[in-house]
Amino acid sequence: MNIKIVKDYQEMSRKAAEYIAEKVQRFPFIKLGLATGGTPEGTYKKLIENHRNSRTSYRDVTTFNLDEYIGLSGNHPNSYRFYMKDHLFDHINIVPANTHIPKGDAGDSEEECERYEKLLAENGGIDLQILGIGKNGHIGFNEPGTSFQSKTHVVPLTSSTREANARYFNSMEEVPSHAITMGIGTIMKSREILLLVSGEAKKDAFTKLMNSEPDESFPASVLLRHPNVTIIADEAAASGLK
Ligand code: F6R
Repeated sequence: MNIKIVKDYQEMSRKAAEYIAEKVQRFPFIKLGLATGGTPEGTYKKLIENHRNSRTSYRDVTTFNLDEYIGLSGNHPNSYRFYMKDHLFDHINIVPANTHIPKGDAGDSEEECERYEKLLAENGGIDLQILGIGKNGHIGFNEPGTSFQSKTHVVPLTSSTREANARYFNSMEEVPSHAITMGIGTIMKSREILLLVSGEAKKDAFTKLMNSEPDESFPASVLLRHPNVTIIADEAAASGLK
């Protein structure tokens, strides 16, 4: 594991964007795995700046997002498709058809999971997967107890995850109860992983990750088994490390 501790959220976002943009420049056909949530927002902002200032091209890039809420169409302002368009896709020269996110309104969600997993395999898998981490160690929507072998699947959301995400909705009732997520096994097939960790709220999760053995009760701990992980964490998140 390659661990970089940086000053704050801004610095994390800048470093992460530099890292990603450099890969995109070197490998124009790169397959990127993307996350949503608060953590990568700053990184996407910096990637947009970099696209404008340094003309990094996304014309041949393909992206796969980790997850999507079930029941929300891609036009719903709280869907992860909408988030991605708003925070990144609409501001760079990526081809919309090359941006893949599980369909939350697919009707048959189980079938959608199979389609997504197959699509990933047909595309040769992910070269660089960007991840955030939940307070309970979740990655994607893989909550504690999820099998390390899991593929793309339907998950009921835990109350802690629904509460954490309620900030984006008008009320708790509106937060969907289920989601589709890449599995932990799916994530682990990525050739490289970039984990971003920021803020005091992630201190306990990050401390636990750095002091644990791989264990399904703490999903992010699977990353300790991955041969190519880079972590960019800010000082607040890293403040529990000795
Ligand atoms: C989002 C995702 C989640 C988040 C995690 C942290 O696509 O996969 O696992 O990375 O919930 O969320 P934030 O960044 O909002 O703290």
